[in-house]
Amino acid sequence: MCGIVGYLGPKKATPILIEGLGKLEYRGYDSSGIAVLENDDIKVEKCRGRLSNLKERVQSSDFASSIGIGHTRWATHGEPSDVNSHPHCNEDESIAVVHNGIIENYIVLREMLMAKGYKFVSETDTEVIPHLVDYYFEGNLEDAVMKATKKMEGSYALGVISEKDPGKIVAVRKDSPLVIGVGENESFIASDIPAVLGQTRDVYLLEDKEFVVMTNDGITIYDENKNKVDKQIFHVTWDIDAAEKGGYEHFMLKEIYEQPKAIKDTLTSRIVKGEKIKIDGIHLTKEQIEGFDKVYIIACGTAYHSGVVGKYVIERLAKIPVEIDYASEFRYRNPLITDKTLMICISQSGETADTLAALRLAKDKGARIIAITNVVGSSISREADDVFYTWAGPEIAVASTKAYITMLIALYIIALYMAEVKNTIRETEINKIKDGLLDLSEGVAEILSDIEKIKTFVDKVYKEKDVYYLGRGLDYAVALEGSLKLKEISYIHSEAYPGGELKHGTIALIEEGITVIALATQEDIFDKMVSNIREVKTRGANVLGIAMEGHPDIEKTVDETVYIPRVMPILAPVYSVVPLQILAYYTAVRKGCDVDKPRNLAKSVTVE
Ligand code: F6R
Repeated sequence: MCGIVGYLGPKKATPILIEGLGKLEYRGYDSSGIAVLENDDIKVEKCRGRLSNLKERVQSSDFASSIGIGHTRWATHGEPSDVNSHPHCNEDESIAVVHNGIIENYIVLREMLMAKGYKFVSETDTEVIPHLVDYYFEGNLEDAVMKATKKMEGSYALGVISEKDPGKIVAVRKDSPLVIGVGENESFIASDIPAVLGQTRDVYLLEDKEFVVMTNDGITIYDENKNKVDKQIFHVTWDIDAAEKGGYEHFMLKEIYEQPKAIKDTLTSRIVKGEKIKIDGIHLTKEQIEGFDKVYIIACGTAYHSGVVGKYVIERLAKIPVEIDYASEFRYRNPLITDKTLMICISQSGETADTLAALRLAKDKGARIIAITNVVGSSISREADDVFYTWAGPEIAVASTKAYITMLIALYIIALYMAEVKNTIRETEINKIKDGLLDLSEGVAEILSDIEKIKTFVDKVYKEKDVYYLGRGLDYAVALEGSLKLKEISYIHSEAYPGGELKHGTIALIEEGITVIALATQEDIFDKMVSNIREVKTRGANVLGIAMEGHPDIEKTVDETVYIPRVMPILAPVYSVVPLQILAYYTAVRKGCDVDKPRNLAKSVTVE
């Protein structure tokens, strides 16, 4: 939610800020803006809409400054508008602030400041910050920012400049991500690494409440009590190309096609034929694994959907009861947690506010936390006890694809690892699943090499107002994800139902010509699923079936079938989700939607 950038060095700041914001647009794109110190005078350009609008504006202003901050917004407080865009300034525009996060006590602070004569122009929570900094300013910007943040509740990553203390950028974070790029005689701030990767590979990953003061003399990092902090530089090893479109029309399509590699990378060194499973970031003893009496899987959105598969797989292989919950529900329901609880938090970004809060709650109550995340050094990875990194590479499209598939791989590996340690299934079965996992990358590549059949279905789906997804067991878990993909990028209403549940109400919505996508990959419940398909066919539905090769019987029941390669049913989600991603993608393209940046959404949800 929102992205911030900053630059200080010998070069012109504006193009660097704009380039950085371009890499952060996935975090929000309601409006954008920059503030620079032009001859020690703050100049602001900001406007509603996409970054392209801001680019046009800054072209005409042609700032020469070499110090500046920038912002791309996902609106929380106050509609997307020019005035609500960041940067926000104090009244005489001598202090400018960019902010990612939410100031939860902004109403109290606003009233306090208004009582002292401060005037507000926007509806945002952020606007209290420049006024507070102004209120505490006594000649030194970092001291004023430190004092201001002591009054602020909520989450923030801030970049602050002031003409009263020029030649400096002050940055700080609490519960919102922030990295500091270290260049030669230049420094950067950014909400995420891709925003600085065009300039430097060396970054500091800030901890909560660490302050940074950047000047031409270098970067100084302080803790909240102004003690200097000595930090290790984190060297980014992945390539900027990984964050570029590389010839694909959209990031989403590129990321769908990167799935075979992402699967392979995530399995590498963890699953090796003939060897026991090794997970480098997980340090549990046999006694600890045997001691867990319950697993919670906690996540949001697509990550939650991977967890639905995870619940099934862990119960089946490691024989531990698993409860799955949305992080936003879990954190407010007083969950039953003991020191025998294992919590698995799944988050691509590692920054999702609800997941992070759920993690902290469970940790406080004594649970052991494993994080599954795609972002090295993210907040969730740092606060968890153990980390399983999915090696999907940067995921830029808002709709998650390759991160989802690698979350599935992570969950299979963790479940199998626990099963191996606990001896809950036969070694022959473990080996069979390991072999199956090692074949998945090739199987996904095979599906992607021939997508024509699934594309023919787009012609029908793109005209629909409602689409229903049905499945049982693991197929239901995948149906949830397929349905979310379609609705989030094509804006077609869709719902996913367990096949047997439809008749308890929702079947009333099935009428002549409606599109139903039915997954029937699970052999043990294939006949049951076929009965459920018949129920909707009888009521006039047009059904696309997803089944495993070797099950031609399905064709007697459905209108069209897409086959996935044969695979052990427990691993089928890795295959069956792919046609659903493709269907969602081409449907959105056919409708002319902005696939990589769907309306109202942002990639990293760092607000509650
Ligand atoms: C949908 C999507 C979201 C995320 C959710 C959690 O395609 O990507 O539903 O899965 O916002 O994000 P992370 O995994 O970063 O915690």
